[in-house]
Amino acid sequence: MITGIDKVVYGVEDMKTCGRFFHDWGLVPAEENEQRMRFETLDGGEVELRPVDDAALPAAFESGSTLRRVIWGVESEQALAWIVGRLAARVTIDSDEDGPGCTDPNGLRQCFRITQRRDAGVVGSPANTAGRIARIDRRAQVYKRAEPVEIGHVVLFTPALAETVKFYEDTLGFVVSDYYPDSGYFLRCAPEGGHHDLFLLRTPDGRRGLNHVAFTVRDIHEVFGGGLHIARRGWRTEIGPGRHPVSSAYFWYVHNPAGGLAEYYADEDYCTAGWKAEAWERTPEHFAEWAVAGGIDGATRRQARGRVE
Ligand SMILES: [Fe+2]
Repeated sequence: MITGIDKVVYGVEDMKTCGRFFHDWGLVPAEENEQRMRFETLDGGEVELRPVDDAALPAAFESGSTLRRVIWGVESEQALAWIVGRLAARVTIDSDEDGPGCTDPNGLRQCFRITQRRDAGVVGSPANTAGRIARIDRRAQVYKRAEPVEIGHVVLFTPALAETVKFYEDTLGFVVSDYYPDSGYFLRCAPEGGHHDLFLLRTPDGRRGLNHVAFTVRDIHEVFGGGLHIARRGWRTEIGPGRHPVSSAYFWYVHNPAGGLAEYYADEDYCTAGWKAEAWERTPEHFAEWAVAGGIDGATRRQARGRVE
């Protein structure tokens, strides 16, 4: 069984700037030199940065700084053998420094390893809601900055939507949680877990590449605290804070110099085999019930820019 995203590897044009971004994003530095930088989430998930022209990286699925490899964790040696066996029956597999893997139908390298993630040992602030008082005699936390708990999901543009969805469902056992008919599929890597580990999106212009990598934080308060901090550090918000009706999560999207966007999110739906996938019309209202375009200025705590992007 696949347990989630263990690691992502970016090929980047500017190692220094990208390193600064992930420091500010709140990841824990694990290794830093000119050829490789590695950061960790609280649960041991890894983000690795390599120069865009590093010969050890697999071919890029788009030009410039972007994701070059996704490494999925599995729970055991047996599970790894099962995955490799299923892949070998369908596609060409080989091994690289991040383990056995293959190229998905969208052109992005996917590898598999026994998970190196651990219980992060953190708990978000309980919410007091109507009929469910979960926080008594204690205040909810205010976060000065985010400390992402895990790499939650990746979102990819693909012109080969049906083929790529089929690959993840049939070969790797992913499950569709919700979908935009013919244009977007939210997939979770196991029947039980967070709403999506992978979202595949087809655009009218047939684009292929990275849309964003999302990092789970403890609670809604950390989405706000992290977003305000990243704004204070001078990074540009695309959109956020806001809330997705699909998945129910609160979000904040920031431009990432390593490629695409980076997202803080919290409070997504948790699905089991009993979850019913629904078809959603792809509209702005279904992307966001509400959202702040351009973000909130970290110093004034007011909307940073009024423009709609
Ligand atoms: Fe996301």
